[in-house]
Amino acid sequence: MQIDDREMVTVALPGAAAPLLRAHLAAVALTSPDPQALAGFYQDALGYEGQWLDGHWTGRLGARRLMIGPGAANNVDHTIFAVPYAQALSDLRGRLASAGISVVEARSQALSGAAIRFSDPDGNVLLFGVADPAEEIDMAGAARLQHIVFASDEAPAMVRFYCDIVGFTPSDYVRDEGQDLTSAFLRCGEEHHSLAVFRAPRKRLDHLCYDVTTWTDIRDWADRFAARHIKLRWGPGRHGPGNNLFLFINDPDGNWLEFSTELEQVVGSRPVKTWVHEERTLNSWGSAFLRS
Ligand SMILES: [Fe+2]
Repeated sequence: MQIDDREMVTVALPGAAAPLLRAHLAAVALTSPDPQALAGFYQDALGYEGQWLDGHWTGRLGARRLMIGPGAANNVDHTIFAVPYAQALSDLRGRLASAGISVVEARSQALSGAAIRFSDPDGNVLLFGVADPAEEIDMAGAARLQHIVFASDEAPAMVRFYCDIVGFTPSDYVRDEGQDLTSAFLRCGEEHHSLAVFRAPRKRLDHLCYDVTTWTDIRDWADRFAARHIKLRWGPGRHGPGNNLFLFINDPDGNWLEFSTELEQVVGSRPVKTWVHEERTLNSWGSAFLRS
């Protein structure tokens, strides 16, 4: 259920603003105690084309990448966002420097040219660089890695960092009865969110999301998973914030993967919507997993 901002006395969070950042989620690097098995899953079940180098796997599905290296389960080694041109990277560098955030130079095959690496307040490692214009051409029909969600025990600080410094814009907030923030959906372009932060007892990956083109693609992915005896874990349903249709599965490490379509497009600015932390907000069609 959506509620009227004017009725609420709330903890200060970033408000609606002209977007400072234009970017998309280009790649996510996971770690796994069994990289071979996890990479095999992504190749077979999701259709990634992958390559191994020195014990690390890089998979491509359309233009977006997933990397898997050895390490703990349910852990993101780093997350890569691509900006469309060099000036956007310079502007981001400037905002980080002004905020005293330390940045190191980096490179990634998911990006063209120079990139920068820094950490958010929870210690999640981020790379930002300029997108290769050729990368977006071959996305037709592929599930497109579209957003990442971090769970955090310090969600308001995370939201302030991503909005006030990195340059994301809040689309929707979810608050509990005490007006504490439980979810924040942040955009860096016209898609309702490319990054979200969920309140949780500890810092961790919450889920990755793949965007598909139509509702019938959701059906087709569910059939593809059924053929491989992969059970749906949540959904199909419809989220309140973003209004997107969704289903969730788990990969062999227990990471949550969302397949989604019809995500709200936000053109220009609009007021931040605020929602009540309840089942209906997470899934207007049925039951929901409330993280906290
Ligand atoms: Fe999601």
